[in-house]
Amino acid sequence: MKIIVTDSSDQAFTRAADMIADEIRSTPTPVLGLATGRTMESIYRLLVQQHEAGTLDFSGTTSFNLDEYVGLPPTDPNSYNHYMREHLFAHVNMPAGRAHVPDGVAADLDAECARYEAAIRASGGIGLQLLGIGETGHIGFNEPPSAFDSRTRVVPLDDVTRRQNSGMFGNDPERVPERALTMGVGTILEARQLLLVAVGDGKAAIINDALNGPISADVSATAIRFHDNVTVILDRDAASIWAQKRG
Ligand code: GLP
Repeated sequence: MKIIVTDSSDQAFTRAADMIADEIRSTPTPVLGLATGRTMESIYRLLVQQHEAGTLDFSGTTSFNLDEYVGLPPTDPNSYNHYMREHLFAHVNMPAGRAHVPDGVAADLDAECARYEAAIRASGGIGLQLLGIGETGHIGFNEPPSAFDSRTRVVPLDDVTRRQNSGMFGNDPERVPERALTMGVGTILEARQLLLVAVGDGKAAIINDALNGPISADVSATAIRFHDNVTVILDRDAASIWAQKRG
């Protein structure tokens, strides 16, 4: 595992965006796994800037997002589908049919999960998977406990996560959907390369658990330690407890 610690969050975002841009430039038909959350907003802004500067072409790119809230249609401003259009898809030249987000309002959610897994497989598999981390240690929405061989499925959201994500829902955790669709930990581990990004001291404790703590289904981010091609990019604040414990 390669762990990069930067002096500032902006440097962390730049390193991450450059890795994604390199993947897009160096692969004829790149397949990206994409994530949502505040951390990713700055990374997507940098990718959009590169595209607008004429140095990054998304025309051959396919993407699969990690997760979506159950019950929120793409028109809902809090849906991850909406987030992705707002922060990335509307600003780059990725063909619309190649930008995949799980359908949180599918009539048959289990069938939607199976369809999503099949679509990832049919694309040839994810080359680079971008990951954030939640306070519960989730990657995607793999809340504790999530088996390391879990696949795309419907999950109940942890109260901690509903509180953490309530900012978009008028700071009311009760308004955050109770369930989500998420790629499984097993699905994520099949990507050829993983890139986890975390910034800020609010992530320091869970980053230490993810990188130093016992490997456990109760902290799904610990699963990345089983993957042989992982880069973790942290700013100094997110790395602080991990760096201290490491000595
Ligand atoms: C949501 C997403 C996760 C993401 C997390 C971190 O819960 N489902 O995939 O890692 O947010 O969000 P933030 O970057 O806002 O801290």
